[in-house]
Amino acid sequence: MTDNFEIINFHSIDDIRGKLIAIEGESSIPFEIKRVYYIYDVEENVERGGHAHKDLHQTLIAISGSFTVNLDTGQNKSSIFLSRPDEALWLKPNTWRTMSNFSAGAVCLVLASEHYLEEDYIRNYQEFLEFVNH
Ligand code: TYD
Repeated sequence: MTDNFEIINFHSIDDIRGKLIAIEGESSIPFEIKRVYYIYDVEENVERGGHAHKDLHQTLIAISGSFTVNLDTGQNKSSIFLSRPDEALWLKPNTWRTMSNFSAGAVCLVLASEHYLEEDYIRNYQEFLEFVNH
């Protein structure tokens, strides 16, 4: 059983004017990017997420500030602290995730492999356990 996630490091193009990171689908990250969204203005002590996906791949990037991603495969649990714009957390399908501990001004950029499809979500934890254990 794998952990269902990987860390991807991006090459930052730095010069005296600042830094630039370019992300290309199927190259910098292993899937085609069909959707981009971002989460911001999260109040202190708020938890987001609380679901898994059946087929969707996503990468989460702390474009600004920091937050913690809590992961659960049904067998393994881990927590990943994201605080670097040059680092992405690649979440594979069948991973229950919550995001917490958002710093003030944090922005979570998400690159997703599919368009939004509510049917791909598992939003009930018991249903998730049944789904991954069968
Ligand atoms: P939700 O899945 O609860 O966000 P989070 O993962 O941060 O907890 O999504 C919040 C709302 O936004 C929900 O009504 C679904 C909607 N939504 C879209 O319409 N399109 C999208 O691409 C996403 C990710 C969410």
